Amino acid sequence: LHVIHIAAEMAPVAKVGGLGDVVTGLSKALQKKGHLVEIVLPKYDCARYQLVQDLKALNVPVESYFDGRLYKNKIWTGTVEGLPVYFIEPQHPGNFFWRGQFYGENDDFKRFSFFSRAALELLLQVGKKPDIIHCHDWQTAFVAPLYWDLYVAKGLNSARICFTCHNFEYQGTAPATELASCGLDVYHLNRPDRMQDNSAQDRINPIKGAIVFSNIVTTVSPTYAQEVRSAEGGQGLHATLHSHSKKFVGILNGIDTEAWNPATDNFLKVQYNAYDIEGKAENKEDLRRCLRLSSRDVRRPLVGCITRLVPQKGVHLIRHAIYRTLELGGQFVLLGSSPVPHIQKEFEDIANHFQSHEHVRLILKYDESLSHLIYAATDMLTIPSIFEPCGLTQMIAMRYGSIPIARKTGGLNDSVFDVDDDAIPIQYRNGFTFLTADEQGFNNALERAFYLYKNNIDGWKQLVQKVMGVDFSWESSAALYEELYAKSVARARATKR
Ligand code: ADP
Ligand code: GLC
Repeated sequence: LHVIHIAAEMAPVAKVGGLGDVVTGLSKALQKKGHLVEIVLPKYDCARYQLVQDLKALNVPVESYFDGRLYKNKIWTGTVEGLPVYFIEPQHPGNFFWRGQFYGENDDFKRFSFFSRAALELLLQVGKKPDIIHCHDWQTAFVAPLYWDLYVAKGLNSARICFTCHNFEYQGTAPATELASCGLDVYHLNRPDRMQDNSAQDRINPIKGAIVFSNIVTTVSPTYAQEVRSAEGGQGLHATLHSHSKKFVGILNGIDTEAWNPATDNFLKVQYNAYDIEGKAENKEDLRRCLRLSSRDVRRPLVGCITRLVPQKGVHLIRHAIYRTLELGGQFVLLGSSPVPHIQKEFEDIANHFQSHEHVRLILKYDESLSHLIYAATDMLTIPSIFEPCGLTQMIAMRYGSIPIARKTGGLNDSVFDVDDDAIPIQYRNGFTFLTADEQGFNNALERAFYLYKNNIDGWKQLVQKVMGVDFSWESSAALYEELYAKSVARARATKR
């Protein structure tokens, strides 16, 4: 199959969170299975182009419509992690992707509706005829309704559209009138059964549009797929998902086991594997030294947290985790940053408070290399999310032998299984979980982890070795996508005949 992803992120060149990891990991896995996979991204000024091979501009620009006229787009091609990538650089006075950050601009709706339209024009104008166009999150959700207008209406419908929603919290709604900029007919689309937001008639909802107009709709874990079908978890879209339930499915993400591999990871002081975990202690020592934490006691548990600091991640429980870890005699390292000013400020205050503390360090920025060292150095990783569509940090942590302490929600519920849960076959138990999103719930899980760590050295070591062996690769999940794609393509061919 020929699959083209249209996305706002791709690790490691343009990554904000898990979306970037997924676009690369899934694409690599599909490519390994023999499919032709290409990716279309915006040409951000802040992406890491030193990681793109053979980056060059095409001679001919691609023209795309916006706000009543045609704009030229400079198209760049290159290779990232062995995958062919197209970068779109709009020649538009708005300098849409020249902002020093990926998201968070006042005109994000404009920027990404422009990009979605330009991406489809690119495919038309360079003559690509993919079997599957796979778009992700609200930023490229416009692709689905646009595809109907640009291709299907003109009889050019060669592709099936797959839409993956990585987080239903971010829907990108905007006043209905905004939609016309990218050429979509507001009157035709602003209807309750199409793109109209379910709670505001004068607003348009890109995620809803993608649910209605895609052939396949997925989200990133089976439990989250269930949660969003309910009124409490559906962020206003549960009824829409019910109406389109036949094409909606939850597939658990994998992780890129080449990018995340303690046996080959160049960011680590010492590489190690499940058969020889001694190197883990050396990385612990190294991290403590780098961060000026006390290394007097090798056996003092080191607890980590690597996250965007947003309400979804349970920021109050993360804050609590720092203090509770200290009370229990552990050390805590937080790597995270927040797009929400008051949350960033709150954690800056905590960071300052512990500035020279020997057992706590907060690093409030995005730092790829440090994240690798923290996964390797820590004994445990906390993920106390209020909701979590999938979550990758628990899987990466396990790959590095850091035991997850996670709330049972969304993808965490599908990947972390409590060591003390008799209902789970013993071979699958791999962490500590809690249900209620409060301090008591968290304490219970953390205290059980500390108890095992301190009182059963061999038991802990066995657990570390066991979780390092769990298969979180993309292999099986990519096969599920492959099956969905193939069935959808076959269905389209059958109806054409
Ligand atoms: P989300 O996508 O909701 O942020 P995920 O768990 O799916 O959460 O993915 C988070 C990804 O971003 C992981 O690869 C994690 O290592 C990375 N990450 C999060 N915060 C930071 C940070 N401050 N520095 C480096 N990497 C980070
Ligand atoms: C979103 C979700 C996260 C998920 C990631 C990749 O950012 O918040 O849970 O793992 O997308 O699918």
